Amino acid sequence: MSTTAAVLCGLAGQLPSRVVTNEELARRLDTDDDWIRTRTGIRRRHVVEPGQATSDLAVEAGGRALAAAATDRVDAVVVATTTPDRPCPATAPLVAARLGLTGAAAFDVGAVCTGFVYGLASAAGLIAAGVADSVLLIGADTYSTIVDPLDRANAIIFGDGAGAVVLRAGHPDEPGAVGHFDLGSDGAHEDLITVAAGGSRQRSTPGEPSHEDRHFAMRGKEVYRHAVTRMAESARATLSRAGWKIDDVDHFVPHQANLRILHSVADDLGLPRERCVTHVESVGNTGAASIPLALADAAARQTVKPGDRLLLTAFGGGLTWGSCLLTWPSLPQPERMTTP
Ligand code: UT7
Repeated sequence: MSTTAAVLCGLAGQLPSRVVTNEELARRLDTDDDWIRTRTGIRRRHVVEPGQATSDLAVEAGGRALAAAATDRVDAVVVATTTPDRPCPATAPLVAARLGLTGAAAFDVGAVCTGFVYGLASAAGLIAAGVADSVLLIGADTYSTIVDPLDRANAIIFGDGAGAVVLRAGHPDEPGAVGHFDLGSDGAHEDLITVAAGGSRQRSTPGEPSHEDRHFAMRGKEVYRHAVTRMAESARATLSRAGWKIDDVDHFVPHQANLRILHSVADDLGLPRERCVTHVESVGNTGAASIPLALADAAARQTVKPGDRLLLTAFGGGLTWGSCLLTWPSLPQPERMTTP
Protein backbone atom coordinates (compact mmCIF):
# COMPACT_ATOMS: atom_id res chain seq x y z
CA MET A 1 0.00 0.00 0.00
CA SER A 2 1.03 3.58 -0.62
CA THR A 3 2.30 5.59 2.34
CA THR A 4 -0.18 8.36 1.49
CA ALA A 5 -3.84 7.64 2.13
CA ALA A 6 -7.07 9.57 1.48
CA VAL A 7 -8.44 10.60 4.86
CA LEU A 8 -12.09 11.54 5.43
CA CYS A 9 -12.31 15.04 6.93
CA GLY A 10 -15.78 16.37 5.96
CA LEU A 11 -19.23 14.85 5.39
CA ALA A 12 -22.69 16.19 4.53
CA GLY A 13 -25.94 15.05 2.97
CA GLN A 14 -28.68 16.86 1.07
CA LEU A 15 -32.23 15.70 0.43
CA PRO A 16 -34.82 17.58 -1.65
CA SER A 17 -37.61 18.95 0.52
CA ARG A 18 -40.51 17.19 -1.19
CA VAL A 19 -41.39 13.90 0.55
CA VAL A 20 -43.37 11.19 -1.25
CA THR A 21 -44.93 8.66 1.12
CA ASN A 22 -46.06 5.14 0.26
CA GLU A 23 -49.64 6.35 0.76
CA GLU A 24 -49.17 9.04 -1.90
CA LEU A 25 -47.80 6.46 -4.36
CA ALA A 26 -50.72 4.13 -3.58
CA ARG A 27 -53.14 6.91 -4.61
CA ARG A 28 -51.75 6.98 -8.15
CA LEU A 29 -50.32 3.47 -8.67
CA ASP A 30 -51.66 -0.06 -8.22
CA THR A 31 -49.70 -0.63 -5.01
CA ASP A 32 -50.06 -0.20 -1.26
CA ASP A 33 -48.02 0.71 1.80
CA ASP A 34 -47.97 -2.86 3.10
CA TRP A 35 -46.57 -4.30 -0.18
CA ILE A 36 -43.87 -1.63 -0.37
CA ARG A 37 -42.82 -1.95 3.29
CA THR A 38 -42.84 -5.76 3.25
CA ARG A 39 -40.85 -6.08 0.02
CA THR A 40 -38.44 -3.17 0.46
CA GLY A 41 -38.65 -1.66 3.98
CA ILE A 42 -39.20 1.77 2.38
CA ARG A 43 -41.72 4.16 3.98
CA ARG A 44 -41.00 7.37 2.09
CA ARG A 45 -38.52 9.00 -0.27
CA HIS A 46 -37.52 12.57 -1.19
CA VAL A 47 -37.85 13.76 -4.78
CA VAL A 48 -36.72 16.86 -6.66
CA GLU A 49 -39.14 19.49 -7.91
CA PRO A 50 -39.54 20.07 -11.67
CA GLY A 51 -36.48 21.99 -12.84
CA GLN A 52 -34.30 20.85 -9.93
CA ALA A 53 -31.32 18.84 -11.25
CA THR A 54 -28.67 16.51 -9.81
CA SER A 55 -26.09 19.32 -9.68
CA ASP A 56 -28.41 21.39 -7.46
CA LEU A 57 -28.34 18.69 -4.78
CA ALA A 58 -24.62 18.03 -5.36
CA VAL A 59 -23.72 21.70 -4.85
CA GLU A 60 -25.66 21.85 -1.54
CA ALA A 61 -24.10 18.64 -0.19
CA GLY A 62 -20.63 19.57 -1.49
CA GLY A 63 -20.74 23.08 -0.01
CA ARG A 64 -21.67 21.74 3.41
CA ALA A 65 -19.01 18.99 3.27
CA LEU A 66 -16.38 21.66 2.49
CA ALA A 67 -17.63 23.74 5.43
CA ALA A 68 -17.46 20.67 7.69
CA ALA A 69 -13.86 20.15 6.56
CA ALA A 70 -13.18 23.86 7.25
CA THR A 71 -11.84 24.41 3.74
CA ASP A 72 -12.88 26.24 0.59
CA ARG A 73 -10.25 24.69 -1.69
CA VAL A 74 -9.78 21.17 -3.07
CA ASP A 75 -7.63 19.94 -5.96
CA ALA A 76 -10.30 17.71 -7.51
CA VAL A 77 -14.07 17.36 -7.60
CA VAL A 78 -15.51 13.92 -8.42
CA VAL A 79 -19.24 13.40 -8.92
CA ALA A 80 -20.55 9.82 -8.91
CA THR A 81 -23.90 9.79 -10.70
CA THR A 82 -26.16 7.92 -13.10
CA THR A 83 -28.35 10.98 -13.59
CA PRO A 84 -25.98 13.74 -14.76
CA ASP A 85 -27.58 17.08 -15.61
CA ARG A 86 -26.92 16.28 -19.29
CA PRO A 87 -25.23 13.42 -21.26
CA CYS A 88 -22.54 15.98 -22.15
CA PRO A 89 -20.64 17.60 -20.46
CA ALA A 90 -19.93 15.88 -17.14
CA THR A 91 -21.67 17.36 -14.08
CA ALA A 92 -18.54 17.72 -11.91
CA PRO A 93 -17.05 20.81 -13.65
CA LEU A 94 -20.33 22.69 -13.22
CA VAL A 95 -20.56 21.64 -9.55
CA ALA A 96 -16.95 22.74 -9.03
CA ALA A 97 -17.61 26.14 -10.64
CA ARG A 98 -20.76 26.70 -8.58
CA LEU A 99 -18.75 25.94 -5.43
CA GLY A 100 -16.07 28.48 -6.38
CA LEU A 101 -13.64 25.70 -7.29
CA THR A 102 -12.98 26.67 -10.92
CA GLY A 103 -9.56 25.33 -11.90
CA ALA A 104 -9.86 22.10 -9.88
CA ALA A 105 -9.77 18.80 -11.80
CA ALA A 106 -13.38 17.69 -12.21
CA PHE A 107 -14.91 14.53 -13.63
CA ASP A 108 -17.86 12.16 -13.19
CA VAL A 109 -17.71 8.51 -12.20
CA GLY A 110 -20.31 6.21 -13.81
CA ALA A 111 -20.67 2.99 -11.85
CA VAL A 112 -24.40 3.28 -11.11
CA CYS A 113 -25.14 2.50 -7.44
CA THR A 114 -21.50 1.50 -6.83
CA GLY A 115 -20.39 4.97 -7.94
CA PHE A 116 -19.54 6.29 -4.49
CA VAL A 117 -17.20 3.38 -3.66
CA TYR A 118 -15.58 3.64 -7.11
CA GLY A 119 -15.30 7.38 -6.45
CA LEU A 120 -13.58 6.74 -3.12
CA ALA A 121 -11.07 4.49 -4.89
CA SER A 122 -10.52 7.15 -7.58
CA ALA A 123 -10.00 9.84 -4.95
CA ALA A 124 -7.65 7.57 -2.98
CA GLY A 125 -5.70 6.93 -6.21
CA LEU A 126 -5.41 10.65 -7.05
CA ILE A 127 -4.11 11.32 -3.55
CA ALA A 128 -1.74 8.31 -3.39
CA ALA A 129 -0.27 9.26 -6.79
CA GLY A 130 0.35 12.82 -5.64
CA VAL A 131 -1.99 14.22 -8.30
CA ALA A 132 -4.22 15.83 -5.64
CA ASP A 133 -3.83 16.63 -1.96
CA SER A 134 -7.57 17.00 -1.41
CA VAL A 135 -10.68 15.75 -3.18
CA LEU A 136 -14.38 16.57 -2.88
CA LEU A 137 -16.33 13.42 -3.74
CA ILE A 138 -20.10 13.70 -4.18
CA GLY A 139 -22.53 10.84 -4.79
CA ALA A 140 -25.64 12.44 -6.28
CA ASP A 141 -28.64 11.01 -8.08
CA THR A 142 -32.15 12.06 -9.07
CA TYR A 143 -33.69 8.76 -10.13
CA SER A 144 -37.13 10.40 -10.14
CA THR A 145 -35.98 12.09 -13.37
CA ILE A 146 -35.39 8.75 -15.18
CA VAL A 147 -37.92 6.39 -13.57
CA ASP A 148 -41.31 6.32 -15.27
CA PRO A 149 -43.69 7.64 -12.58
CA LEU A 150 -46.24 5.05 -13.73
CA ASP A 151 -43.80 2.12 -13.37
CA ARG A 152 -44.90 0.77 -10.00
CA ALA A 153 -41.99 -1.68 -9.72
CA ASN A 154 -39.37 1.09 -9.78
CA ALA A 155 -41.25 4.24 -8.72
CA ILE A 156 -41.63 2.80 -5.22
CA ILE A 157 -37.92 2.03 -4.77
CA PHE A 158 -36.00 5.12 -5.77
CA GLY A 159 -35.51 8.50 -4.12
CA ASP A 160 -33.30 11.51 -4.85
CA GLY A 161 -30.40 12.90 -2.82
CA ALA A 162 -26.73 13.75 -2.58
CA GLY A 163 -24.00 12.90 -0.09
CA ALA A 164 -20.54 14.45 -0.09
CA VAL A 165 -17.18 13.79 1.55
CA VAL A 166 -13.92 15.71 1.60
CA LEU A 167 -10.76 13.61 1.55
CA ARG A 168 -7.27 14.94 2.32
CA ALA A 169 -3.81 13.39 2.09
CA GLY A 170 -2.81 11.62 5.29
CA HIS A 171 -1.36 8.47 6.78
CA PRO A 172 -2.90 5.01 6.17
CA ASP A 173 -2.98 4.32 9.94
CA GLU A 174 -4.88 7.45 10.97
CA PRO A 175 -8.64 7.41 11.65
CA GLY A 176 -10.59 8.30 8.50
CA ALA A 177 -8.06 6.71 6.10
CA VAL A 178 -9.99 4.81 3.37
CA GLY A 179 -8.70 1.41 2.16
CA HIS A 180 -8.47 -1.62 1.65
CA PHE A 181 -10.64 -1.80 -1.47
CA ASP A 182 -12.35 -4.47 -3.51
CA LEU A 183 -13.87 -3.40 -6.86
CA GLY A 184 -15.44 -5.60 -9.52
CA SER A 185 -17.81 -5.81 -12.46
CA ASP A 186 -19.63 -8.27 -14.72
CA GLY A 187 -20.80 -6.65 -17.97
CA ALA A 188 -22.35 -9.92 -19.17
CA HIS A 189 -25.36 -8.83 -17.08
CA GLU A 190 -25.51 -5.25 -18.35
CA ASP A 191 -29.12 -5.79 -19.42
CA LEU A 192 -30.40 -6.20 -15.84
CA ILE A 193 -30.31 -2.45 -15.11
CA THR A 194 -30.54 -0.10 -18.08
CA VAL A 195 -31.67 3.12 -19.65
CA ALA A 196 -31.78 1.96 -23.29
CA ALA A 197 -31.62 5.30 -25.12
CA GLY A 198 -29.47 8.39 -24.81
CA GLY A 199 -26.11 6.83 -25.70
CA SER A 200 -24.30 5.75 -28.85
CA ARG A 201 -25.99 2.32 -29.11
CA GLN A 202 -29.51 3.59 -29.56
CA ARG A 203 -29.26 6.90 -31.37
CA SER A 204 -31.99 9.46 -31.33
CA THR A 205 -33.92 9.93 -34.55
CA PRO A 206 -36.91 12.22 -35.06
CA GLY A 207 -39.80 10.93 -32.95
CA GLU A 208 -37.51 8.53 -31.05
CA PRO A 209 -36.62 7.25 -28.52
CA SER A 210 -39.77 5.63 -27.27
CA HIS A 211 -41.20 6.34 -23.83
CA GLU A 212 -39.87 3.03 -22.41
CA ASP A 213 -36.39 3.42 -23.86
CA ARG A 214 -35.91 6.78 -22.19
CA HIS A 215 -36.75 5.38 -18.78
CA PHE A 216 -34.93 3.30 -16.23
CA ALA A 217 -35.57 -0.45 -16.45
CA MET A 218 -34.57 -3.13 -13.95
CA ARG A 219 -35.10 -6.90 -13.78
CA GLY A 220 -35.71 -6.72 -10.03
CA LYS A 221 -35.70 -10.37 -9.03
CA GLU A 222 -32.46 -11.19 -10.84
CA VAL A 223 -30.82 -7.99 -9.57
CA TYR A 224 -31.85 -8.96 -6.05
CA ARG A 225 -30.06 -12.33 -6.30
CA HIS A 226 -26.89 -10.82 -7.77
CA ALA A 227 -26.92 -8.03 -5.17
CA VAL A 228 -26.93 -10.41 -2.21
CA THR A 229 -24.21 -12.68 -3.63
CA ARG A 230 -21.91 -9.95 -4.97
CA MET A 231 -22.13 -7.74 -1.90
CA ALA A 232 -21.34 -10.62 0.46
CA GLU A 233 -18.42 -11.76 -1.74
CA SER A 234 -17.02 -8.25 -2.02
CA ALA A 235 -17.32 -7.64 1.72
CA ARG A 236 -15.47 -10.91 2.45
CA ALA A 237 -12.72 -10.15 -0.08
CA THR A 238 -12.09 -6.75 1.50
CA LEU A 239 -12.03 -8.06 5.05
CA SER A 240 -9.64 -10.81 4.06
CA ARG A 241 -7.32 -8.31 2.30
CA ALA A 242 -7.16 -6.23 5.49
CA GLY A 243 -6.92 -9.21 7.85
CA TRP A 244 -10.15 -8.15 9.56
CA LYS A 245 -12.68 -10.70 10.83
CA ILE A 246 -16.42 -10.04 10.64
CA ASP A 247 -16.40 -9.40 14.42
CA ASP A 248 -13.99 -6.50 13.81
CA VAL A 249 -16.74 -4.64 11.93
CA ASP A 250 -18.68 -2.26 14.19
CA HIS A 251 -20.88 -0.94 11.37
CA PHE A 252 -21.67 -2.41 7.97
CA VAL A 253 -22.76 0.39 5.62
CA PRO A 254 -24.22 -1.20 2.48
CA HIS A 255 -25.69 0.52 -0.56
CA GLN A 256 -29.28 1.13 0.55
CA ALA A 257 -30.99 -0.93 -2.17
CA ASN A 258 -33.74 -2.63 -0.22
CA LEU A 259 -33.93 -3.53 3.48
CA ARG A 260 -34.37 -7.24 2.71
CA ILE A 261 -31.20 -7.25 0.60
CA LEU A 262 -29.24 -5.51 3.38
CA HIS A 263 -30.43 -7.97 6.01
CA SER A 264 -29.74 -10.97 3.73
CA VAL A 265 -26.17 -9.76 3.15
CA ALA A 266 -25.65 -9.19 6.90
CA ASP A 267 -27.02 -12.69 7.62
CA ASP A 268 -24.80 -14.22 4.95
CA LEU A 269 -21.76 -12.52 6.49
CA GLY A 270 -22.72 -13.67 10.00
CA LEU A 271 -23.02 -10.03 11.07
CA PRO A 272 -25.74 -9.13 13.62
CA ARG A 273 -28.41 -7.08 11.80
CA GLU A 274 -28.15 -4.27 14.37
CA ARG A 275 -24.62 -3.58 13.07
CA CYS A 276 -26.06 -2.92 9.60
CA VAL A 277 -26.57 0.84 9.07
CA THR A 278 -29.93 1.40 7.35
CA HIS A 279 -31.39 4.61 6.02
CA VAL A 280 -33.45 3.18 3.16
CA GLU A 281 -36.68 3.31 5.20
CA SER A 282 -36.83 7.11 5.03
CA VAL A 283 -35.12 7.90 1.70
CA GLY A 284 -35.47 4.81 -0.54
CA ASN A 285 -32.67 3.78 -2.89
CA THR A 286 -30.78 7.00 -3.71
CA GLY A 287 -28.23 5.40 -6.07
CA ALA A 288 -24.70 6.75 -5.75
CA ALA A 289 -25.84 9.00 -2.88
CA SER A 290 -26.97 6.14 -0.69
CA ILE A 291 -23.74 5.30 1.19
CA PRO A 292 -22.70 8.91 1.99
CA LEU A 293 -26.31 9.73 2.96
CA ALA A 294 -26.40 6.68 5.26
CA LEU A 295 -23.05 7.79 6.74
CA ALA A 296 -24.29 11.36 7.25
CA ASP A 297 -27.47 10.08 8.88
CA ALA A 298 -25.57 7.68 11.18
CA ALA A 299 -23.07 10.40 12.12
CA ALA A 300 -25.92 12.85 12.82
CA ARG A 301 -27.60 10.29 15.07
CA GLN A 302 -24.21 9.53 16.68
CA THR A 303 -24.64 5.82 16.03
CA VAL A 304 -21.20 5.95 14.38
CA LYS A 305 -18.48 7.21 16.75
CA PRO A 306 -14.80 8.04 16.38
CA GLY A 307 -12.73 4.84 16.46
CA ASP A 308 -15.57 2.62 15.14
CA ARG A 309 -14.58 0.32 12.28
CA LEU A 310 -16.73 0.50 9.14
CA LEU A 311 -17.18 -1.73 6.14
CA LEU A 312 -18.80 -0.01 3.12
CA THR A 313 -20.19 -2.26 0.36
CA ALA A 314 -22.06 -1.29 -2.78
CA PHE A 315 -23.68 -2.99 -5.75
CA GLY A 316 -25.25 -1.59 -8.88
CA GLY A 317 -25.92 -1.72 -12.59
CA GLY A 318 -23.12 -2.74 -14.88
CA LEU A 319 -23.07 -4.99 -12.96
CA THR A 320 -20.62 -3.35 -10.58
CA TRP A 321 -19.73 -3.88 -6.95
CA GLY A 322 -17.17 -2.66 -4.46
CA SER A 323 -16.20 -2.39 -0.81
CA CYS A 324 -13.80 -0.48 1.38
CA LEU A 325 -12.88 -0.13 5.03
CA LEU A 326 -12.34 2.83 7.26
CA THR A 327 -12.02 3.69 10.93
CA TRP A 328 -14.35 6.56 11.79
CA PRO A 329 -12.55 9.86 12.43
CA SER A 330 -13.58 12.75 14.63
CA LEU A 331 -15.75 14.96 12.37
CA PRO A 332 -18.11 17.89 12.89
CA GLN A 333 -21.52 16.29 13.41
CA PRO A 334 -23.72 16.61 10.28
CA GLU A 335 -27.26 17.96 10.73
CA ARG A 336 -30.12 15.44 11.00
CA MET A 337 -31.69 15.15 7.55
CA THR A 338 -34.89 13.24 8.12
CA THR A 339 -37.30 12.72 10.94
CA PRO A 340 -37.11 9.24 12.57
O1 UT7 B 1 -29.70 -0.12 -6.74
C1 UT7 B 1 -29.63 -1.20 -7.64
C2 UT7 B 1 -30.02 -2.42 -6.95
N1 UT7 B 1 -31.45 -2.64 -7.07
C3 UT7 B 1 -32.02 -3.48 -6.26
O2 UT7 B 1 -31.34 -3.98 -5.41
C4 UT7 B 1 -33.45 -3.91 -6.45
C5 UT7 B 1 -33.52 -5.38 -6.27
N2 UT7 B 1 -34.86 -5.96 -6.40
C6 UT7 B 1 -35.81 -5.74 -5.48
O3 UT7 B 1 -35.63 -5.03 -4.54
C7 UT7 B 1 -37.11 -6.52 -5.65
O4 UT7 B 1 -36.97 -7.44 -6.69
C8 UT7 B 1 -38.32 -5.60 -5.91
C9 UT7 B 1 -38.65 -4.81 -4.67
C10 UT7 B 1 -38.03 -4.67 -7.09
C11 UT7 B 1 -39.55 -6.44 -6.25
O5 UT7 B 1 -39.79 -7.39 -5.23
P1 UT7 B 1 -40.05 -8.93 -5.61
O6 UT7 B 1 -40.36 -9.61 -4.35
O7 UT7 B 1 -38.87 -9.40 -6.40
O8 UT7 B 1 -41.34 -8.84 -6.49
P2 UT7 B 1 -41.57 -9.29 -8.01
O9 UT7 B 1 -40.90 -8.36 -8.95
O10 UT7 B 1 -41.27 -10.75 -8.15
O11 UT7 B 1 -43.11 -9.11 -8.12
C12 UT7 B 1 -44.03 -9.93 -7.36
C13 UT7 B 1 -45.44 -9.47 -7.69
C14 UT7 B 1 -45.70 -9.40 -9.18
O12 UT7 B 1 -47.02 -9.80 -9.41
P3 UT7 B 1 -47.35 -11.28 -9.93
O13 UT7 B 1 -46.64 -11.40 -11.25
O14 UT7 B 1 -46.82 -12.21 -8.88
O15 UT7 B 1 -48.85 -11.29 -10.04
C15 UT7 B 1 -45.54 -7.92 -9.51
O16 UT7 B 1 -46.30 -7.53 -10.62
O17 UT7 B 1 -45.63 -8.14 -7.19
C16 UT7 B 1 -46.10 -7.30 -8.26
N3 UT7 B 1 -45.58 -5.95 -8.02
C17 UT7 B 1 -46.21 -5.08 -7.20
N4 UT7 B 1 -47.33 -5.19 -6.48
C18 UT7 B 1 -47.68 -4.13 -5.73
C19 UT7 B 1 -44.45 -5.37 -8.51
N5 UT7 B 1 -44.34 -4.11 -8.03
C20 UT7 B 1 -45.40 -3.91 -7.22
C21 UT7 B 1 -45.84 -2.84 -6.45
N6 UT7 B 1 -46.98 -3.00 -5.71
N7 UT7 B 1 -45.15 -1.68 -6.36
